[in-house]
Amino acid sequence: MLPIKDTVTIVTGSSSGIGAATVRMLAENGGHVVINYSKSAAAANQVAEDCRAFGVEALVCQADVGNEADRLRLVDETMKKFGRITGLVNNAGTTVFVDHANLGGLSEDDFHKIYGLNVVGAFMMTRACEPHMRAGGRGSVVNISSVAGVMGVGSSIAYAASKGALNTMTLSLARVLGPEIRVNTVCPGFVIGEWLKQGMGEARYEATREALAKGTALHKPGGTAEDMAEAVLWFLYGARHITGEFLLTDGGQHLGQAPLIAR
Ligand SMILES: NC(=O)c1ccc[n+]([C@@H]2O[C@H](COP(=O)([O-])OP(=O)(O)OC[C@H]3O[C@@H](n4cnc5c(N)ncnc54)[C@H](OP(=O)(O)O)[C@@H]3O)[C@@H](O)[C@H]2O)c1
Repeated sequence: MLPIKDTVTIVTGSSSGIGAATVRMLAENGGHVVINYSKSAAAANQVAEDCRAFGVEALVCQADVGNEADRLRLVDETMKKFGRITGLVNNAGTTVFVDHANLGGLSEDDFHKIYGLNVVGAFMMTRACEPHMRAGGRGSVVNISSVAGVMGVGSSIAYAASKGALNTMTLSLARVLGPEIRVNTVCPGFVIGEWLKQGMGEARYEATREALAKGTALHKPGGTAEDMAEAVLWFLYGARHITGEFLLTDGGQHLGQAPLIAR
């Protein structure tokens, strides 16, 4: 069992999907959690109730991780409530769905918005948490990237490039934040849920799930948010000898036996 009891973890974007599964799993294992969202207050409060049912404390904090004042307030409110931060999961992310061949479909503004959250947001959150983690003598940062950042595939070129940047940032940060703080990255493949269903449209989403079930090494029609959360928890509070590492959590999707997105 991982040493999670009484840890305090901020998980950005935890009102749904991978972030929500992560805080629930942390809470189930006795960790206190900070649930962050930008718009979905009701969903965030429901996730907090689920967590409190495990007997831990759950702080809910609205903050746009793309905005510096909001990021600092998120860290400040966490310190006011708990007095320490042992873990940070940079999970909040965004994209646009634009076919890679359609260069004209991707604007400069798309790049700035995606980088502003997926890369700059993750860096600035880490920067804001660093002194508190060091003061506590330990810390662990987990970035949620994507196989897109390794393979140059996924919802758009801007998204893949942002996740590639997040991957190299993991290496840079891991080098300078030790020995107290480890930095690692989980790279999900296709995750079952609203993010891809909304972005791809139902027909393409279902066709891709079918192709994955037939063609990937583990014959799974995508992973669940809980599959990703398991990897996140291990990096956060297990993996004591590991920093600057990526884990492709994709059921073997990167082995390339099936199209990543059906056409
Ligand atoms: N789904 C996949 O197949 C997949 C694959 C690879 C990687 N990923 C990565 O996994 C991460 C989570 O994705 P998911 O599938 O779990 O998505 P999701 O279910 O849509 O959840 C996204 C979460 O991020 C929050 N959020 C969005 N913009 C935010 C902002 N500016 N500030 C703070 N919170 C914000 C959302 O809250 P609000 O609703 O309140 O905005 C929500 O809680 C992302 O980094 C994504 O790139 C996902």
